[in-house]
Amino acid sequence: MKRPVILLTGAAGQLGFELARLLPAHGEVQALDRAALDLADADAVAAAVRRIEPQIIVNAAGYTAVDRAESEPALADAVNARAPAVLAAEAKRLDALLIHYSTDYVFDGMSGQPYREQDPMHPLNVYGSSKLAGERAIAASGVAHLILRTSWIYGWRGQNFLLTMRRLAATRDELRVVADQFGVPNWSRVLAEATAGLVARGAAALAAKSGVYHLSGRGRASWFDFARAIFDDADRPRVVPITTAEYPTPARRPASAVLATAKFEEAFGIVLPDWREMLAACKAAA
Ligand SMILES: NC(=O)c1ccc[n+]([C@@H]2O[C@H](COP(=O)([O-])OP(=O)(O)OC[C@H]3O[C@@H](n4cnc5c(N)ncnc54)[C@H](OP(=O)(O)O)[C@@H]3O)[C@@H](O)[C@H]2O)c1
Repeated sequence: MKRPVILLTGAAGQLGFELARLLPAHGEVQALDRAALDLADADAVAAAVRRIEPQIIVNAAGYTAVDRAESEPALADAVNARAPAVLAAEAKRLDALLIHYSTDYVFDGMSGQPYREQDPMHPLNVYGSSKLAGERAIAASGVAHLILRTSWIYGWRGQNFLLTMRRLAATRDELRVVADQFGVPNWSRVLAEATAGLVARGAAALAAKSGVYHLSGRGRASWFDFARAIFDDADRPRVVPITTAEYPTPARRPASAVLATAKFEEAFGIVLPDWREMLAACKAAA
C-alpha cells in the first residue's frame, strides 16, 4: 500500500501533539499548528487542502474553551463548524477521508444512560452547539468520514483538569471539586494511539465504515472521583466534593454524559481501557 499523505491540523493541541508523533509511521504527515493554519480563516483552510492534496485529513484542531465560547460564539462556530465544513468539502473533491473529533457535550446528559451514537443530541452550551454543527456539516457534505466523539481529554500538555489540579495543589491544602457531573476522563495518548490504529488500515477501509463513533475509555467518574484518583486518594490535598450549583460557570455542562463505545469496538476491534487504568499509565509516563 502506498503511504498516504496525511494532513493533521491542530498539531500543537493535546490530541494533535500525540498524533504528530504517531502518524508518521503510517504516512507522509503535514502537521500544521495554529500558526501554520488558522481554522478561523476558511479560505486558508481550503487553500491548505488544495496545496497538500491529502488522502487523509485528521482534524485535531478545535475551539475547546467551553466557558469562553459563551462570549465568543462566532469564533467557536468558525473553528468548530465552518472549518470542518470546508475540510469536508475539500476532502470530498479529492476523494479523501476526513477524521474529525467531536464531544460528549453534544448531549444534555439527562438520560442517565450511556449515550449511543444515534441518541438525540441536545447541547447545553455554545461549544456543544458548535461541535454539533460541525458534525452535521461533515455528514451533509457526503465526504467519507469518521467522526470520533470523545470526552474529558487530559495529558501532560495544554489545558486540562489533570494539570489544573496539580497546579492548584501546589499552593492549596484543600480543593473543592464538583461531584455531581459524570463522564469519562480520556488520556490524549490513548485516543491518539487508537486513531493511529485506524489510520494504519488505510483510507479505503475506513471509508467503508464512514460514520459517527464514540471513542472513549470505560467506566464513569465525577470530576471529584477524577481529582481523588489524580492524587491517589491521598490526604493532601484534601479533595472536598461540591455541587455544580456551588461552582457556577458561564457554560452549562451535562450532568452525566458517558459515551457507549460498543459501535466503535465492534467496527474496529479496538477497546480502550478503564479510565483509572489510563490515568495510571499517564502518571507513569510523566
Ligand atoms: N479537551 C476535551 O476535553 C475534549 C473533549 C471532547 C472532545 N474534544 C475534541 O477533541 C479535539 C481535540 O481536543 P484537544 O483536547 O486536543 O484540544 P486542545 O488541546 O485545545 O487543542 C486544540 C488545538 O486547536 C488549536 N486551535 C484553536 N483554535 C484554532 C484556530 N483558529 N486555528 C487553528 N488551530 C486552532 C489550538 O491552538 P491554541 O492552543 O493556540 O488555541 C490547539 O492547539 C477537538 O475537536 C475537541 O473539540 C475535546
